Amino acid sequence: METRRLCFPRQRQVLLLFLFGGVSLAANRFRHYSVTEETERGSFVVNLAKELGIGVEELATRRTRVVSDDNKQHLLLDSHTGNVLTNEKLDREKLCGSIEPCMLYFQILMDNPFQIYRAELKIRDINDHSPVFREKEMVLKILENTAEGATFRLERAQDSDRGLNGIQNYTIEPNSFFHITISDSDEGTIYPELVLDKALDWEKQPELNLTLTALDGGSPPRSGITTIRILVLDVNDNAPKFSQLIYETQAPENSPLGSLVVKVSAEDADSGVNAEVTYSFFDADEDIQTIFQINPFSGEIILKALLDYELVKSHKINVQAIDGGGLSARCMVLVQVLDTNDNPPELIISSLSNYIDENSPETVLAVFRAKDRDSGENGKTVCYIQDNLPFRLKPSVENFYILMTEEALDRESRAEYNITITVTDLGTPRLKTEHSIIILVSDVNDNAPAFTQVSYTLLVRENNQPAMHIGSVSATDRDSGTNAQITYSLLTNQDQHLPLASLVSINANNGQLFALRALDFEALQAFEFHVGATDQGSPALSSQALVRVVVLDDNDNSPFVLYPMQNASAPCTELVPRAAEQGYLVTKVVAVDGDSGQNAWLSYQLLKATEPGLFGVWAHNGEVRTSRLLSERDAARHRLVVLVKDNGEPPLSASVTLHVLLVDGFSQPYLPLPEVAPERAQGDSLTVYLVIALASVSSLFLFSVLVFVAVRVCRRRRAASLEVCSVPEGHFPGHLVDVSGTGTLSQSYQYKVCLTGDSSGTSEFKFLKPIYPNIHSNGPDFQQHFCLYCDVLLKFIIPNKFSFLSVIMQYNN
Ligand SMILES: *[C@@H]1O[C@H](CO)[C@@H](O)[C@H](O)[C@H]1NC(C)=O
Repeated sequence: METRRLCFPRQRQVLLLFLFGGVSLAANRFRHYSVTEETERGSFVVNLAKELGIGVEELATRRTRVVSDDNKQHLLLDSHTGNVLTNEKLDREKLCGSIEPCMLYFQILMDNPFQIYRAELKIRDINDHSPVFREKEMVLKILENTAEGATFRLERAQDSDRGLNGIQNYTIEPNSFFHITISDSDEGTIYPELVLDKALDWEKQPELNLTLTALDGGSPPRSGITTIRILVLDVNDNAPKFSQLIYETQAPENSPLGSLVVKVSAEDADSGVNAEVTYSFFDADEDIQTIFQINPFSGEIILKALLDYELVKSHKINVQAIDGGGLSARCMVLVQVLDTNDNPPELIISSLSNYIDENSPETVLAVFRAKDRDSGENGKTVCYIQDNLPFRLKPSVENFYILMTEEALDRESRAEYNITITVTDLGTPRLKTEHSIIILVSDVNDNAPAFTQVSYTLLVRENNQPAMHIGSVSATDRDSGTNAQITYSLLTNQDQHLPLASLVSINANNGQLFALRALDFEALQAFEFHVGATDQGSPALSSQALVRVVVLDDNDNSPFVLYPMQNASAPCTELVPRAAEQGYLVTKVVAVDGDSGQNAWLSYQLLKATEPGLFGVWAHNGEVRTSRLLSERDAARHRLVVLVKDNGEPPLSASVTLHVLLVDGFSQPYLPLPEVAPERAQGDSLTVYLVIALASVSSLFLFSVLVFVAVRVCRRRRAASLEVCSVPEGHFPGHLVDVSGTGTLSQSYQYKVCLTGDSSGTSEFKFLKPIYPNIHSNGPDFQQHFCLYCDVLLKFIIPNKFSFLSVIMQYNN
């Protein structure tokens, strides 16, 4: 039913307007009713029946209606009771807002007859709203030095309720700085003001939070709160303050540039610019400014240059801090520099001698001092030298050391020493310094010259040019300088007979030997002498060596024919019996050669003959033999020229003339002659010759005696004169070797060595042949016999190597 009544309101309004235009109002006065807001729907407003004095039925029949001015169905009429009730919960604040009192106007309309009553419903306020601040928080900035009593107006709170229900009071919680006063505004509202009771201190309490409470007058009262945030604004009332008055720190020397030494820090109780502290050195001298640098903002002090412990062991730095307001404070930084091992040890030589005589006993060579500028272990030093040297270091007082030899030195084994003295410190890492000392060992003449050979053999060909270089001797001396300067000399010869000074000379400087004159192999085959080498040291030392000069033979001697003698006034004539067989030994040409070896190998050949073909000469032994049987027709006298040639290069030769007389009735000797061919095989053995030689020599004496006897017999028995065979006195060539060596044999018995070359060349056969130059044994008698004897000797004994003793015996018989 109600909903239907509430329908079509516009139709009704139109109707109402119509009615107002044509119908007067039933009553002109306002009827006043009131109702409290926020009462439940259906709250009683007025009983119309009673109000109007009509029955409930009439109300119904006359279609009584309640219409609000705003056309909203705030109220409704209960047709059974005639009560006007609220149709909804009425909210004063919603209907009227801030308008007070809040009236809801409505009309009561009745038909038959149409009547209209005007009424107003006052909606009574209840305290249904709390005060509300616009912001949850108010920010208030107050300088810390604001004087006490200053007031700060605060924003009001809002309360929808009106009247008593509106805001009646403001409070803050009790605090020591502020209280609240309430003031009336022009609009008739109250507002709170904050009054400063006590000076603020930003440094103590930069911010304050107070709770502001707004109270309304409701019962019970409602309240709303907000926070007053009071920011105390700083003023520069504080100087900066360092955290320490003295900063002590340590920094190793040689810390890299830029390393942080210390960070100073000053606090400023103020804020903002007033608390902006800048740092700087204060009263800093040059040193500090070159070494350190301070960051003005962070207070970090860093190294700008290297610290040197050895220079300054600690630094004192004054640092100032200034805030933005110009207030300042100072502190002191003590930087203790720590030693690092940055200085290598030093070696200071106090005295030094680079030279030392060899063979000196322990000698001090150098005195020096080791030093290290560092301190502690870093400054302790240790000194040593190489350990394979004959030197040692002897520690002395206060880091002094003495370098000395350990033993006598020998320059010849080592003349120079490079001693490296090493000094190290005990720091970490160890630093070391090396110093080299060169020690030169001076020479002492302790070595005699030494010849390169113990003996020298020099071969010199005879007939050399005078002053010819024949060889050199050489000596070395292990010393040096004048101690090694060698002078060569010939030493006086032990052999007094050798005229050494006229034979050889020596170059004193280089040991070259010269033959002073031409040497003659035949006179001197070899000789020995000593040479000396002397150094120039003091005292001088010397040594000697043996030099043996061997003269080499040259073919400078022609063969010399011993038999038959060529320059005799009456040459020998060989007698050959006509009855001689073929191969009969006529004679033997005996020749010698002063040379030796090849140069003395003689060969014989028949150069000329009166009758060629009758005689032959054996090339190797000079035997002259008949080549065929003799006949009566052969001439009695023959002349033969035999050439004797040696084997030298070029060969030298001599010729000899033989006279042969063929005789009749010359009795044959008894001795059976060997077969005609006496020509010996080339390879006839040496041993046979040796045997012969031995036999010859041993028989020599006996032979001589026998000859002597024979001569005597000869002289007595025979007077017949044949031909003279003479040997002139002193004729023997001087170049023949005198084998006696001393020449002690008497002049009357000269022996000559007849050298016959063996055809094989393997040996020389020497035998002695007696010659009687001075036996003046009177006349042809002797000579005749002697010739005969020679003949026999040559024919039988020598070729056949028989004992000639028996031959002679026979002959003498
Ligand atoms: C000595 O020895 C040191 C180190 O071995 C070296 O440097 C120096 O050249 C040498 N001196 C001579 C002169 O040899």
